[in-house]
Amino acid sequence: MTGDPESQNELLSLLGRRIVLGITGSIAAYKSALLARELTRRGAEVRVVMTPSATEFITPLTLATLVDNPVHSDFTESKEKGTWTNHVELGLWGDLFLIAPCTAQTMSAMVTGACDNLLQAVFLSARCPVMIAPAMDLDMFTNAATQESLHTLRDRGIEIIEPASGLLASGLEGKGRLEEPEVIAEKVVNFFSSSLPLKNKRVVVTAGPTQEPIDAVRYIGNRSTGKMGFALAARLSDLGAEVTLIAGPVALPTPPRVKNRIDIKTAQELYEATIKVWPDMDAGIACAAVADLKPKSVSNVKLHKEEFPEAVELEKTPDTLASMGSSKKANQLLMGFALETDDGIESAVGKLNRKNLDFVVLNTLADDGAGFSHDTNKVTVIKKVGVDTEIRSFELKSKKEVARDLIDILFQIK
Ligand code: CTP
Repeated sequence: MTGDPESQNELLSLLGRRIVLGITGSIAAYKSALLARELTRRGAEVRVVMTPSATEFITPLTLATLVDNPVHSDFTESKEKGTWTNHVELGLWGDLFLIAPCTAQTMSAMVTGACDNLLQAVFLSARCPVMIAPAMDLDMFTNAATQESLHTLRDRGIEIIEPASGLLASGLEGKGRLEEPEVIAEKVVNFFSSSLPLKNKRVVVTAGPTQEPIDAVRYIGNRSTGKMGFALAARLSDLGAEVTLIAGPVALPTPPRVKNRIDIKTAQELYEATIKVWPDMDAGIACAAVADLKPKSVSNVKLHKEEFPEAVELEKTPDTLASMGSSKKANQLLMGFALETDDGIESAVGKLNRKNLDFVVLNTLADDGAGFSHDTNKVTVIKKVGVDTEIRSFELKSKKEVARDLIDILFQIK
């Protein structure tokens, strides 16, 4: 990695994106190796699916080595063991299905829904957006049938990376050459940044615990790890939001593309950092486990046993979420969390109203696998609807999946 911030940005531009790279039988398949490298160099995780004829132009071993994942080209994985390649799983895994090069034959199959090989089955199963980079000889490209396939596919919402003009393998000169791998990779980067549902949305997320010092080494804290808040920040930035993550002391890396991370220790610091950015935000999610109380006086040296007071006098910390709620503008959305030890609905609804929230997410330590330190959580989302509430309970899920559900609900994505 160079020190140049621009090239670092380029290197990170596809971090966390999952791309299924489809390769079909064209001489331009040799460029797919370079394309796979361009995508992985930018941080994408790539899985390759090839048509049988593509494997005659470039070996699966080359691609598998470049993307560090096995390459799929057959419906059966092992004839001896009777295992098969799960095309549905591949189709669901990807954030994007990119077919480059895409032959006239594959375009035609995509139009008719033919399913003669694994790549076509993955296409039919994919729920993610599909992008194709056609490559073929000049007359094949200009043929009315090919042009009609292109129009139909475009009409169906498939992104087309137009072929470039130049010298073709046949010796003819004209349109049909697979676009250069760097250009395709840049189009993929642009696709992700422009088509995302939360583009232009600014969201502040508070996460993790706070620590309220008693003396130079001791503090009042809690067992929050920040995993839920970081999963929310990750999901938001994956969907294109500009995220400001205000994080207590946690041992977690900043998720890819999170624009701004502010590390804080105390509830007071959390309050100041959040309130400063809140007026410019479209939404706020308060996931931090903030200490409600802090020692009234703090020693700046370590207190020895004999110096320790019999009782530590406490005072309230500022309630960041309540302040966000009281200054909330009509166009701002606010989601808070309520961690309870019992069923907690009543108490959570109390917080929803008292803190002027749009949503409160209840998680209760009464549920196994929910709350602090687990990788899973079980939540109930309570939405304010006029003077009423709407309640939706979810199963125990990974915090990543919970983050998906919560962001979908907050921004009404589905
Ligand atoms: N919160 C906050 N600042 C605080 C305390 C809490 O921003 N000083 C936020 C948390 O991030 C969470 C929500 O408020 O989103 C719920 O916190 P909680 O401490 O349970 O709320 P309280 O109103 O203090 O309720 P309780 O009576 O249960 O302490």
